[in-house]
Amino acid sequence: MLDLSKYDRVFLLTDEQVAASCLPVFYSTIMHQPCMADQLILPSGEQHKTLASVQRIWDFLLENHATRSSLLINLGGGVICDLGGFAAATYMRGIAFINVPTTLLAMVDAAAGGKTGFDYGSPLIKNSIGLFAEPVATIYEPAFLATLPPEQLLSGYAEMIKHAALQSPQALAELLNHDLRDHSSQVFGELINRSVAFKQSIVEQDLHDHGLRQILNFGHTVGHAIEALMLEKSKLPTFNFQLSTTLNSQLSTLNSFPHGYCVMYGIVAEAYLSHLICGLPAEVVSTLSRFMLENYGAAPITCSDYDALLALMQHDKKNKEQGTIVCTLLRSIGQPLVGQTVTPAQLREALEYLCSL
Ligand SMILES: NC(=O)c1ccc[n+]([C@@H]2O[C@H](COP(=O)([O-])OP(=O)(O)OC[C@H]3O[C@@H](n4cnc5c(N)ncnc54)[C@H](O)[C@@H]3O)[C@@H](O)[C@H]2O)c1
Ligand SMILES: [Zn+2]
Repeated sequence: MLDLSKYDRVFLLTDEQVAASCLPVFYSTIMHQPCMADQLILPSGEQHKTLASVQRIWDFLLENHATRSSLLINLGGGVICDLGGFAAATYMRGIAFINVPTTLLAMVDAAAGGKTGFDYGSPLIKNSIGLFAEPVATIYEPAFLATLPPEQLLSGYAEMIKHAALQSPQALAELLNHDLRDHSSQVFGELINRSVAFKQSIVEQDLHDHGLRQILNFGHTVGHAIEALMLEKSKLPTFNFQLSTTLNSQLSTLNSFPHGYCVMYGIVAEAYLSHLICGLPAEVVSTLSRFMLENYGAAPITCSDYDALLALMQHDKKNKEQGTIVCTLLRSIGQPLVGQTVTPAQLREALEYLCSL
């Protein structure tokens, strides 16, 4: 149970879909004091991870007289945790916040590690404005996963695959062989705990991302570029995202493309680069490619997107010099190499490989 006695006011930030799916579980299992928090419910989706949403949170806190002794609870996926963390860390030079992740992705990745922020720029750059700020607590409640759509479950699973690829061949094999339809068992709970523990062990050694933590960028140079491209395309009136998953044989149409799907496509492209540049065995690239195709489908890009993707990667905040593109690659599973400079020609080849699948 949460001890809220040291805060003068408690505020709850969530989004529309989470409010509809998770508030009863939140009040019955975590909060135990219904409606003692003022609530702000934002629209759902990555397209709302904007400065305008941050302003809405600041306004909400100001209008409801939040002080430096107040608490903001972020109940939701990575978007809510990132936005709420940033707004709390900047409101009156910083108030306390707690993350209560409700997606698998937020549980294993976004809610822990102290990175907060929002998407900004033209072309849009993911998480281009943000700061490091740690929640006073992160509360894990697997019951939230019961209402999570299958594509969101897969989205989080991609970050777990990333952690396992960085960790060891055994950790990766366990995830690749796990039946993804089984997401409420104790075994799955154990896999989540191990993934969270892995991320925490890395973050504890390098909170401010100066060295070791950069291994967690594996899959994200290409992945973030695909995600930003999808966001740009989503602004076109004729564009619909269609995903097919083996968990759910129907096609779902979404208003934003799940982060973890882009990470899975990025993992495959960067595994290919790892083979090209650092000698990652070709079988590993094929195994990851097969897993991607079976569970996430083909990447939603064509050769006409290469230039835009390369331009987006050149703007990536992970690059130290303008114009160069830097990735985390793998020498083998469990042996990451940070800060690998990749040429545009090598990236083009990796994108061609991804599109050929
Ligand atoms: N700060 C970090 O270190 C970090 C790490 C990884 C990802 N991220 C960020 O996280 C974001 C992606 O997170 P996400 O995938 O959780 O996206 P999200 O927050 O948009 O959630 C995905 C969708 O699921 C809905 N949802 C959430 N929980 C639900 C539940 N239990 N039942 C039913 N529906 C539910 C949401 O309303 C939303 O529509 C990206 O913006 C990414 O950049 C941040
Ligand atoms: Zn990620």
